[in-house]
Amino acid sequence: MRVPRHVAIIMDGNGRWAARRGLPRSAGHRAGLTPVRTCIEECSRLGVEVLTLFAFSSENWKRPVTEVGLLMQLFLEALEREIDELAERGVRMRFIGARELLGAPLAERMDAAEARTRGNPGLTLAVAVAYGGRWDIVAATRRLAEAVQAGTLAPADIDEGRFAAELALGDLPEPDLFIRTGGDHRISNFLLWSLAYTELYFSDALWPEFDAAEFARALEAFGARERRFGQTSDQVGAGAC
Ligand code: IPE
Ligand code: IPE
Ligand code: MG
Repeated sequence: MRVPRHVAIIMDGNGRWAARRGLPRSAGHRAGLTPVRTCIEECSRLGVEVLTLFAFSSENWKRPVTEVGLLMQLFLEALEREIDELAERGVRMRFIGARELLGAPLAERMDAAEARTRGNPGLTLAVAVAYGGRWDIVAATRRLAEAVQAGTLAPADIDEGRFAAELALGDLPEPDLFIRTGGDHRISNFLLWSLAYTELYFSDALWPEFDAAEFARALEAFGARERRFGQTSDQVGAGAC
């Protein structure tokens, strides 16, 4: 089986999962932690290098203040509870997004988790919190503009590679496989730049019910895709690049 180097997931459908059971949305968010663990385990087992999980978007700040507060509390609790095991498993933690918008307790634990796991050899787990693809592109542009202003970068030297290097995950391979659960077919401001040639896979499963078998189905679909990157099928088949 062809294993993607980088899998990026929009974990959607927690609220609907809870509503169907007559439970509050918060119960859906809590139930969403189980598939997070499953995906980390499966990626580690299969040798996937990077797993990026979309946990909270730039636009999710528009949700009711009680839901936003609950999600932040849940991230804090989950990080505190899981960090030891993640560190033992050799996982390298990354957080991407506007961290300065998060409360100090959460932001400090994110800093600490990254510092503690920086040298780990295993799966890189990137969690996108207060993240938006547009935010990422604007932040990268600002850093490049600052370098130009400081005289350390010439505008003529800004090419796709130089630009991509400034993005939050610019030092990692681009996603090979994108998965969105919950049945909607959209990107919702996820990794806009680096999804340019990613294989897109949409699952009708709601995130809390996304299990190892569902993940295997996504990988199987990925394995059956022909990635052409603009070339013809004949070229790809001949191994040309
Ligand atoms: C995804 O589930 C979790 C977050 C966006 C934080 P939702 O909360 O969007 O669940 P639905 O889409 O309303 O079912
Ligand atoms: C996308 O889900 C963001 C996350 C899963 C964190 P949403 O539920 O916020 O997406 P929309 O609003 O339906 O596009
Ligand atoms: Mg949703």
